[in-house]
Amino acid sequence: MRNDLYRRPLATALERLGLEAGWRCVDVGAGAGDDAVAFAELVGREGRVYAVDSDPRARDDVAAAAAAAGGAQVIAITQAGEDLMLPETVDLAYCRFLLVHVVEPRAVLQRMAAALKPGGYLLAQEPITSGGRIDGVPMSMPEGRHPDIGALLPGLVREVGLDLVDAWAEAPAGGGPGPGATYLAELTEVDPGNASVVLPPLVTVIGRRAVP
Ligand SMILES: C[S@@+](CC[C@H](N)C(=O)[O-])C[C@H]1O[C@@H](n2cnc3c(N)ncnc32)[C@H](O)[C@@H]1O
Repeated sequence: MRNDLYRRPLATALERLGLEAGWRCVDVGAGAGDDAVAFAELVGREGRVYAVDSDPRARDDVAAAAAAAGGAQVIAITQAGEDLMLPETVDLAYCRFLLVHVVEPRAVLQRMAAALKPGGYLLAQEPITSGGRIDGVPMSMPEGRHPDIGALLPGLVREVGLDLVDAWAEAPAGGGPGPGATYLAELTEVDPGNASVVLPPLVTVIGRRAVP
C-alpha cells in the first residue's frame, strides 16, 4: 500500500540517480523488502542489493518477496542501522520511513554515508507527519520518535558530510474511497470516510559522497 501511494517520489528519485545494472545498493530499514527487490531487478545479476533491518522477521519477508519476483538477488541482513556494516562500499544507500522510528537519526545517516563509495549516493525519504491533513486537521504519529524528521532531512544530510544534490517534498492526496483512505484506515483503524485527505508529505533528499 505504502509503495503504491508513495511510488512517484521513489520513481522520480531513481530516474534522477540513473540507477542501473551493476550498482551495489543497501536498503536500510527495508521491512518486507519491496523496494530492495525492485532495486535488485534494476541492478541485475552484476549488481548487488543488501536489505538491512533490525527486525529478524524481515529476513523471511525479504526472501519471500525476492522469490515472488522470480528470484531477484537480495542479501537480507539483520542489523540495526546504527551499526550498519557491509562487506563492501555501495553506490546507493537508501532508507524510507526509517528515521521516523530510530532513536538517533543522525547516527544512522552517518553510517549510511560511511557505507558509500566516493561518488556514491544517499537517498532518504522521510515524512513530515504533521503536514498531512484529514479534513484540514493536521495528522499526528504518537508512536513515532521523530514524526516530522522529513523537515530536518536536508540539513542532516549535509551534517553527515555529504553534498546535497537535490531535495523536494511530495504528498499524495484524495477524497472518499481509494488507496489513500484504505492506507489511513489500516494505519489508524479509523476510516476517513469522504473526508479530504492529504497524506504526510514525503521529503526526498539526495546526497552524494564527494570524489576526492
Ligand atoms: C515503517 S517500516 C518501513 C519499511 C520500508 N522502508 C518502507 O518504506 O516500506 C520501518 C522499518 O524499519 C525497521 N527499523 C526500525 N528501527 C530500525 C533500526 N534502528 N535499524 C534498522 N531497521 C530499523 C523496522 O523493523 C521496519 O521494518
